[in-house]
Amino acid sequence: MLNKLIKKRKGLDEADEASLLEEKVPDHIAIIMDGNGRWAKQRGMPRVAGHREGMSVIRSIVQAGSRLGVKTMTLYAFSTENWKRPRTEVDFLMRLPERFLSVELPKMMEDNVIVRITGDVHKLPQYTQDAVHRAVHETSGNTGMILNFALNYGSRSEILDAFHAMYEDVEAGVIAKEDVSEALVSDYLMTNGLREPDLLIRTSGEKRLSNFMLWQLAYSEFWFTDVLWPDFTPEHLKEAIEAYQQRQRRYGGV
Ligand code: FPP
Repeated sequence: MLNKLIKKRKGLDEADEASLLEEKVPDHIAIIMDGNGRWAKQRGMPRVAGHREGMSVIRSIVQAGSRLGVKTMTLYAFSTENWKRPRTEVDFLMRLPERFLSVELPKMMEDNVIVRITGDVHKLPQYTQDAVHRAVHETSGNTGMILNFALNYGSRSEILDAFHAMYEDVEAGVIAKEDVSEALVSDYLMTNGLREPDLLIRTSGEKRLSNFMLWQLAYSEFWFTDVLWPDFTPEHLKEAIEAYQQRQRRYGGV
């Protein structure tokens, strides 16, 4: 579909087409992977079956993103609010990184993917921390797409922590009050060093941010789909990118 769209433009040779594709593909795509529970319910299965299925589609989406030239993909895997879910569901979700990475880590090494985590990792069970730290460590020498898992992540507490840290640094004389700028705030967030998302995708028909990257998504394009996350395919990803390519980002200008 993407190629078809580009080929519609006249007078482009293949190299031009490729560079056009590269130019307009969003550098950073953030995804709220929603609808696992409903997917399971529709099939008369327990909610955790939806999470298992949701986990299994991640690889194809990561590979497709990486092939299309996406530089960073952030996946909202567990929010600070998700602790309110039933204990069995939380326990299951906490085991997912371990399960996912035991199979996927060698593949991510092959695909040159860098794993990064955004969130309060130290509050996760030790086995979850061990799994994600290992993945971060083992992929740290890779040079391809960054796969950023938002795990135990909540945007308001992230911003609040940034305020506290800035306040302490002002008090300690590390920074001056006048140094506090948008760029400095970004540096104090957990996403420091990452570009802001160009495109946000949310599956399952819900149209809200759910405390996800409130600062970072200020100028992002949003794309919503009714498709439930376990049914999300690389074709849907391409559809979202095509929609993004049709948009004009004006950043408040005209
Ligand atoms: C939201 O669907 C989904 C989650 C809270 C969990 C998402 C996690 C994964 C897809 C797997 C993560 C994998 C790794 C490796 C960390 P929901 O349960 O809220 O769905 P519902 O709205 O239909 O109930």
